[in-house]
Amino acid sequence: MWKGRFAQETAAAVSAFTQSLDLDWRLASSDIEGSRGHVAMLAQVGLLGADEACRIDGALAEIDGEIASGLLKPKEELEDVHMNVEARLIEKLGPLGAKLHMGRSRNDQVATTMRLFLRGEYGRLSLELKGLLTALLDRAEADRLVVITGYTHLQQAQPVSLGHYWMAHFEAFRRDVTRLEAARAAIDESPLGAGALAGSTLPLDRAFSARELGFSRPTRNSLDSVAQRDYLLDYHHFATVFALHASRLAEDLILYASQEFGWLLLPDAYCTGSSMMPQKKNPDVLELIRGKTGQVAGHLVDLVISLKGLPSTYNRDLQEDKRGLWASIATVESVLSLLPDLLNHIAVDEERAARAFEDGLLLATDVAEHLVERGVPFREAHEKTGRLVRRCLEEKRALNSFSLEEWRSLLPEAGEDLPERLNAVDAVRLRRTFGGTAFDRVAEAIGEGRRFLSEG
Ligand code: ARG
Repeated sequence: MWKGRFAQETAAAVSAFTQSLDLDWRLASSDIEGSRGHVAMLAQVGLLGADEACRIDGALAEIDGEIASGLLKPKEELEDVHMNVEARLIEKLGPLGAKLHMGRSRNDQVATTMRLFLRGEYGRLSLELKGLLTALLDRAEADRLVVITGYTHLQQAQPVSLGHYWMAHFEAFRRDVTRLEAARAAIDESPLGAGALAGSTLPLDRAFSARELGFSRPTRNSLDSVAQRDYLLDYHHFATVFALHASRLAEDLILYASQEFGWLLLPDAYCTGSSMMPQKKNPDVLELIRGKTGQVAGHLVDLVISLKGLPSTYNRDLQEDKRGLWASIATVESVLSLLPDLLNHIAVDEERAARAFEDGLLLATDVAEHLVERGVPFREAHEKTGRLVRRCLEEKRALNSFSLEEWRSLLPEAGEDLPERLNAVDAVRLRRTFGGTAFDRVAEAIGEGRRFLSEG
């Protein structure tokens, strides 16, 4: 395509090294979509006759079909998807096909194609992400009245509703929806018409092609348009934070399903066995979800490092932006396709979960807050309850095993309702602050979550 200036053929090794077909052949349909928008604009401003535009458009549609059916195979010497499509057009239409690329460079073309392609990807990711949110809401509804141990520092802290626990992950993934929306907003501008870097001497109507292709507006600066990959950084930011969230959930489930915690049972279909130890049931799926997080974050870092130090404007380094992107999208999609079903099939051993409450120590804060309600300054209440906890540990007694008489002598400030409210269910029920774990607060949160999904 550029042979005019060159005295030598491109070395075969160079073609193999510079080609990007392994990365961009999947963009063919979006590339053709962009070209058809370009053609419509060229006709609009009179650079193509109506009949010419019609013939080019028809041939492009045919090429789309040829590629989809596998009839047209890419040629490596034509370097990338853009040149392959254009070469096929010229093969079909001769000199008329050679008019397609007027006013355009592969630099603005690839930036446009990528945005068109990502629209579809983001639509799918968004649906799958909402599927995960639905699975978490369903679990939260089913497990709202189940009481489990809440941890800080991975030390037993206070009883919480299992529904509240699932809703914590719901909130994290809900923020990922917002981040994906931001990535989607970032691709809603058309770089087409920026040319190689400076625009064009031809009377292109960039606003027209932007509209034609369904973008809200054309990009504002041609130099920036062909250089910037912020819109991909936005995707990678979404993906990395999502992967961190999935990893934290996976790690929790691995722990809770281990024999030491033991109150959560993973579905057999989502576990694997040991080649040697017959009793083993390993949470490999969850481990891999956790394990793939590093790669997803790595793809973000990969692009950041590629961009760091690039001069303005387009540089061929940018071609590599696709490699990590495809890998990242594939990983995020695989995690999203597995997690909802896995969550749906988890079983809970409530009896085992309740064992953690036997020594009553998770109710120590409840004792202290009870004293506060009866006028004891919190620091004093904390100290007194702490001493009582020490005594329980020494005497191997449960904190909620004292009779009212015993409480009277131990903590004269204690009210007579203390013994019966000292249990894990009431500890959850009474934490009614907004965003707290009380069962009816969780019901509200689930209702709000459902509204968010149905409005979104
Ligand atoms: N295939 C390239 C890419 O994906 C676009 C080609 C631009 N090449 C060039 N020499 N200006 O970035």
